[in-house]
Amino acid sequence: MFLTAPKPAQLDRQNIPNPIPHDLFAAIADLKKELNAVILAHYYQDPDLQDIADYIGDSLGLSQAAANCQADVIVFLGVHFMAETAKILNPNKLVLLPDLDAGCSLADSCPPDRFAAFKAAHPDHLVISYINCSADIKALSDIICTSANAVAIVNQVPKEQPIIFAPDRNLGRYVMQQTGRDLLLWDGACIVHEIFSERKLVELKLKHPQADIIAHPECEANVLRHADFIGSTTGLLKYVQKSDRQEFIVVTESGVIHQMQKASPLKKFIPAPPTSNCACNECPYMRLNTLEKVYLAMKNRSPEIILNESIRQAALKPMQRMLEMSL
Ligand code: 13P
Ligand code: SF4
Repeated sequence: MFLTAPKPAQLDRQNIPNPIPHDLFAAIADLKKELNAVILAHYYQDPDLQDIADYIGDSLGLSQAAANCQADVIVFLGVHFMAETAKILNPNKLVLLPDLDAGCSLADSCPPDRFAAFKAAHPDHLVISYINCSADIKALSDIICTSANAVAIVNQVPKEQPIIFAPDRNLGRYVMQQTGRDLLLWDGACIVHEIFSERKLVELKLKHPQADIIAHPECEANVLRHADFIGSTTGLLKYVQKSDRQEFIVVTESGVIHQMQKASPLKKFIPAPPTSNCACNECPYMRLNTLEKVYLAMKNRSPEIILNESIRQAALKPMQRMLEMSL
């Protein structure tokens, strides 16, 4: 049997995908006006995506921007839990995520049924969850924190109050060290931040003795102990801008270097090496978003974040507590 290509007249117009415009930057700018949209992006996005954003930030800044957003549509360039957080905080907006598969290994490491059982086994504990978790986990939490405010939030809880800290064990250990508190940790981790090699980091520092090592608190303790500064992505960015140093070894997802280089073009930023020769210091979830997908999401007003209203309301309470405690 011979298969013949359909003649143009036979093509079903419905099945022709949207043609992608040549100038995606201009097309996205037009759609932004048409939709009255705002584009929020995390620092781990591809540089092209950071460049089309109205606001770029860490998880705390993005939450605040989403909560205060006046536009009709939020185009979220980040991962699912971040876009979901925007919807929790501002439910009347259409929240678009260009690729719904942009998940997070850390959020996935904390399934709601297992976490509910863990919480039930420790009924006297207050639950503080890192924002890198699903809406279901937020709904089971008393307070949310981010890497920017975790230490300050734990410090505001009375000393005698026992605390569960989830889902990131590395951030949890760092908070324990900074606050002197004993936290009951959930055993989750981020695939990007646990992959950095201590041995290669030390070798790199020997080659660049003048460089400051700056690291995200999601890294393992054996890597963090070499850091001159530890902070959230915004914290790291501010540190390099203020510092007199000219060289920095950056131990977090390499996307953040784009803004560092833009703010300080004469300084040198060296991405810390992962254990293998892969590009594992790029978050595979974050990098699922592309300019084409942003264009299509805006054009089709889809995929959007949809949340069960009772989960949203339960997840909103610990988010609001975080925002109040971060003023
Ligand atoms: P921050 O930008 O809040 O530091 O978080 C980093 C991160 O891992 C986001 O997924
Ligand atoms: Fe999740 Fe890690 Fe990617 Fe952040 S960098 S989105 S914590 S997998």
